[in-house]
Amino acid sequence: MTALNQDQLSARAREILTGNDRGGYTVPNGRVYPFQWNWDSAFVALGFATFDLDRAWREVETLFEAQWPGGFVPHIVFWKDDPGYFPGPDVWASGRTPPTSGITQPPVAASVVRALWEADESAAFRPRLEALFPKLLAWHRWFHEVRDPLRTGVVVATHPWETGRDNSAEWDAPASAVDVSNVGEYQRRDTSHLDQSMRPTKLDYDRYLALVQFGRATGWDHRRIGQTNPFRVADVGMTMILLRANRDLLVLAQALGRTAEAAEIAGWLSLADKAGDYLWDEALGAYSSRDIITGRSCGALTSASFLNFYGGVGRPDRDRAMLAHAERIAGQVGRLMPSLDPADPRFEPLRYWRGPVWAVVNYLIGTGFALAGHADWAERVRRDTGELIAATGFHEAYNPLNSAPSGGDDFSWTAAIWLHWAGR
Ligand code: DGY
Repeated sequence: MTALNQDQLSARAREILTGNDRGGYTVPNGRVYPFQWNWDSAFVALGFATFDLDRAWREVETLFEAQWPGGFVPHIVFWKDDPGYFPGPDVWASGRTPPTSGITQPPVAASVVRALWEADESAAFRPRLEALFPKLLAWHRWFHEVRDPLRTGVVVATHPWETGRDNSAEWDAPASAVDVSNVGEYQRRDTSHLDQSMRPTKLDYDRYLALVQFGRATGWDHRRIGQTNPFRVADVGMTMILLRANRDLLVLAQALGRTAEAAEIAGWLSLADKAGDYLWDEALGAYSSRDIITGRSCGALTSASFLNFYGGVGRPDRDRAMLAHAERIAGQVGRLMPSLDPADPRFEPLRYWRGPVWAVVNYLIGTGFALAGHADWAERVRRDTGELIAATGFHEAYNPLNSAPSGGDDFSWTAAIWLHWAGR
């Protein structure tokens, strides 16, 4: 790609968003991911907000049209069928209209809605906030009631796909308990669009499928899945994201004068320190996800480990340890933040969540650094993200060592993060 200047890159980013717009929702990438994805849509709304605020609200509203009665919001909404993706709606068999998957994804939506609201608090948008607020609250309540069985303030993921970091090294040990002997034959579609070396392995996919089959066999009974699923891991990423989302939802509750709801959210937030303690791995000297079945830490320092700042979970000694890790890693890569510590023997710079840099995670990390008063680190992560995009375009992810692209191109959330943050 010939080098584009800042304005040309922004124009290209807007083109990607409008090109991936399917009318009320945006696909992450037309070939590889041809449906509406939950947290992708939330980030996409931030991008639209820079040039079409009405369309930005619509993106989140469309996602919540697929919310289930108990508050659960699915990770994929299959508004239209598309043979280019596996597993499609018939594999999930959620029995819902529109068809959806049966698992959820990191709850960034409330934080995004706060940003949309603060971009324009006029009467034109207030009814939209009033309509979305109870839906966001119901989803957060679902997390606290169904996905925090130990009442430690964490989010327990029941599928690696829920975390968004599908093949992170964090899931290797917990997912080894998943029985894959009855998965049967299936045809992956991701590897017909993308190089295999950038994707999860066959063993990873067998486990993903076995977990879908387990959930489906319960009729997607989330309470039962929460108690009996063979994979139950307190995810540091989802936990920190929900903490931040609760802080933002509290601001929205106050803006709407919802006192009882504000008290309920404040109650959830009072568990923040407990969650931080539960996810701190003393041997690793870092935050890490933890298998709640075995009680063992996943023992991996990933980009999600740095979301403690974003979640507002802090203890001076632990903050110092995380900053020292950032310093060390910055000395080992060309651009931050690799999805796995390069010192980890499982590090692979091009394979999906085992090394590549993801613009959306950088945005969360950078925002967290800024909120915690580490402006220099916030700027470093923002600058690295902008440079990665400027070098080769709006890809799914990037090799942290040499900035080469990884995964799909013309990626909606990368375009959105450029417009909202990295390209400013
Ligand atoms: C995939 O299919 O790779 C997605 O990440 C699942 O959500």
